[in-house]
Amino acid sequence: MDSAKVSVKDLENFIVEAMHRYGIHEEDAHVSANILVTTDTWGVHTHGTRQLRPLLKNFPIKRLDSEATSEVIREGVAWAMVDGHHSMPFVSAQRAMELAIQKAKAAGIGYVSVIHTSHFGAAGYYATLAAEQGMIGMAMCNADPNMVIPGARGKVLGTNPIAYAVPAGQNKPVFFDIATSAAAANKIIRAKLLGQSIPEGWLVNAEGEPTTDPSGFPESGALMPMAAHKGYGFALLVEVLAGVMTGAALTKEQPSWVPDIPGNPPGFTNQGQMFIAIDAGAMISPEIFDQRMDWLVDYIHDAPKAKGSERIYLPGEMEWEKREQALANGMILPSDVVDSLRGLAHDVGIKTLPFEMVTDN
Ligand SMILES: NC(=O)c1ccc[n+]([C@@H]2O[C@H](COP(=O)([O-])OP(=O)(O)OC[C@H]3O[C@@H](n4cnc5c(N)ncnc54)[C@H](O)[C@@H]3O)[C@@H](O)[C@H]2O)c1
Repeated sequence: MDSAKVSVKDLENFIVEAMHRYGIHEEDAHVSANILVTTDTWGVHTHGTRQLRPLLKNFPIKRLDSEATSEVIREGVAWAMVDGHHSMPFVSAQRAMELAIQKAKAAGIGYVSVIHTSHFGAAGYYATLAAEQGMIGMAMCNADPNMVIPGARGKVLGTNPIAYAVPAGQNKPVFFDIATSAAAANKIIRAKLLGQSIPEGWLVNAEGEPTTDPSGFPESGALMPMAAHKGYGFALLVEVLAGVMTGAALTKEQPSWVPDIPGNPPGFTNQGQMFIAIDAGAMISPEIFDQRMDWLVDYIHDAPKAKGSERIYLPGEMEWEKREQALANGMILPSDVVDSLRGLAHDVGIKTLPFEMVTDN
């Protein structure tokens, strides 16, 4: 299996062209490409451009609609509910966060949820949109069940991701973006494709016993929540905010957004998503907020280091550094991403891939 080197611009152009061939409109294709490629530049390859091929397969079978646009169906001063109408989910998610930011400018806080939607990729992308505007951002979604919970066997809850981003004065925004499972499902699938074992604490087998063998997943077994009952508790909070509160499909009512998973029921995914923007400057002066964040960042960087540790990172710091490198010098896409993009090129009849292959040792 081979990795590939690619420039950010070439990758973006390639996936915009692939989306055009699926009938996705110009603006929607550009918004979606920016989200997916930005995610790759962070090094979060599990949720970058590799997700596009399975997502696009939803359009010809009418589980997503390239002609649809999201619509606000109810709103108050500080909140809104948006119907995604099964439009391109990256676009409805970005618009929802933009609306939350707009509401936070007027009311100090904006809370916007989306229903009738599908996979939005990395939750963190949407949280950073708020931080770019000097606001604290949060993003989350409920997903089809893939995760066991303490005492249970099999898949009970989704890996329901949760992300926040905080503007941090002179520093890049602090941002934290995680699945509530110990590891994202894609990491297990990747290990399975590569024939590798996985760390303890990621997966249980069909009997509900911990295993390091990913070969049976996703057909059997289930992901473990991060930090046992703590990840379970947060996944449940996300299910409430993104699912119960919105009217989206809950847990096992939700078909997977990957249409060709064996045994996947037909019908719309109807995922729920939730975006919050908090205007910190409405409650404390923006200058004081920035100063206090700078102090906090310095305090954390300067914490005494463990033996053998050279550096302490803030959440998001590794991702910003990888992005800077990727923008300047291009990036290496792992083999599973390359395979997915190669498959996408084949699906839509693009002959030339913009990659320089790199042989893995
Ligand atoms: N849309 C969906 O249905 C869905 C479901 C699950 C996960 N996801 C996405 O999967 C992605 C990966 O999730 P994950 O759980 O594998 O993430 P992960 O376990 O790799 O954790 C990533 C986060 O931890 C921070 N971090 C890592 N090491 C750190 C350190 N030493 N110091 C400080 N911070 C550190 C990173 O900055 C980042 O914010 C996320 O983007 C998430 O939104 C999406």
